[in-house]
Amino acid sequence: MNICIIGAGYVGLATGISFCIKGHRVEFYDSDRNKILILNDGRVPFYEKGMEEALQKCIKRGSAIFTDNLKKALKEAAVIFICVNAPTLPRGKTDLTSIKSLFSKLNKLIKRKVTIAIKTTINPDDYLEVKKLLKNENFHLAVNPEFLREGSALKDSLNPFRIVIGTYDESSKKDLENLYSNFDSPKIITDPLSAIMIKYASNSFLAVKISFINEIANLCDKIGANIDDVATGIGLDPRIGKDFLKAGIGFGGSCLPKDTRNLISFSKRAKANISIAEKVYEINDVQFLAAIDKLKEVLGNLKGKTIAVLGLAFKGGTDDLRDSVSLKIINYLKKHGVIVRAHDYMIYEKAGKLLKDVFISGDIYSVAEGCDALIIATDWQEYKRIDWAKIKNLTTGNLIIDGRNILNKKLLIKLGFIYSGIGRS
Ligand code: UGA
Repeated sequence: MNICIIGAGYVGLATGISFCIKGHRVEFYDSDRNKILILNDGRVPFYEKGMEEALQKCIKRGSAIFTDNLKKALKEAAVIFICVNAPTLPRGKTDLTSIKSLFSKLNKLIKRKVTIAIKTTINPDDYLEVKKLLKNENFHLAVNPEFLREGSALKDSLNPFRIVIGTYDESSKKDLENLYSNFDSPKIITDPLSAIMIKYASNSFLAVKISFINEIANLCDKIGANIDDVATGIGLDPRIGKDFLKAGIGFGGSCLPKDTRNLISFSKRAKANISIAEKVYEINDVQFLAAIDKLKEVLGNLKGKTIAVLGLAFKGGTDDLRDSVSLKIINYLKKHGVIVRAHDYMIYEKAGKLLKDVFISGDIYSVAEGCDALIIATDWQEYKRIDWAKIKNLTTGNLIIDGRNILNKKLLIKLGFIYSGIGRS
């Protein structure tokens, strides 16, 4: 099938490349000419494991084409995927500027029957608003949410836990069923608003699980229980499930915080009450203080202390800083007179431009030098394998706050560190 992906960002690329791999021909359109040049050169403008290699294979086979010419990109497409960015405005409405301008172009350019599938996550009321803009009777509209995790986006696109198709329209339903026919995943065919709700409810439920386990971990700290055993014990019940029970300093990223926030705001506009999402949001907002309290317990007043924040990305395996809990911690520490040093495996250069008065490096050993304490803020699995004895010799103090519960507590204590995880007392 000929497919057009509009918006060659994270979702657009992962989706489009997975279609290429499945044997379809994909034209990617993006208005950012520089991005198109980079992609045409076989490079991906962000880090995602395996994406660049897959992209190069697709380009070589001629199944992935990149252009900043919308008319050309649309020319042969039977299905068009809308994957453009739709940021959230302060009061929880979607910023529809780019979607609106895109839809008015589609109205002018498309003169034949075509399926338009919206992947961009937009609120139900915003969806009803933009739907009115697609006046063209040739358009067969569907909502097809994405469920990709950064760090495993390609794997998730090729083997999704489920494929959700939301439409009232027979033709778009048929096109999307065809397109996904060689994807071995359960398919849910529903109406557009229910499809949107599946996306919001999924991300918000994941957020509920994380905030729940974080509060249980805080309690474990108070009573002397061990959150790792507690999470394993409850996760073995298949009705609960073991995933997303990793306690820590809170969730970040471009999706869970935003989607929880949006669910709260559009539920208010619909005069419904999702108080659990509000609570989750509140809990997550202050969960990073669990790490700060632990610092204070040992160091007392933090003013003038030197502290290393290990990990800047919102989670390991990405170079994405959006809504990262690390930034919250760094800002707090700076505000309280701490000299902050920071490390990340991927994003140290970009972060260096943002956080000018913080020493940032990709070399963990230089970051650790002279520090009173270290905080693990991102779950980079590489931190498990570094030379902690060498770090011990480089630091002034001996305190480690493991905000992601990834390190070997016994080993660190043996090396002479004071170790404190979240709920691992
Ligand atoms: C999330 C969802 O997991 C995807 O299913 C969804 O498609 C995506 O949002 C989206 O809407 O596009 P992502 O933002 O890539 O994916 O990251 P997650 O793996 O969900 O992690 C989010 C945050 O939660 C991270 O900061 C992570 O460290 C934290 N987390 C995750 C925990 O603190 N504990 C856990 O057990 C799991």
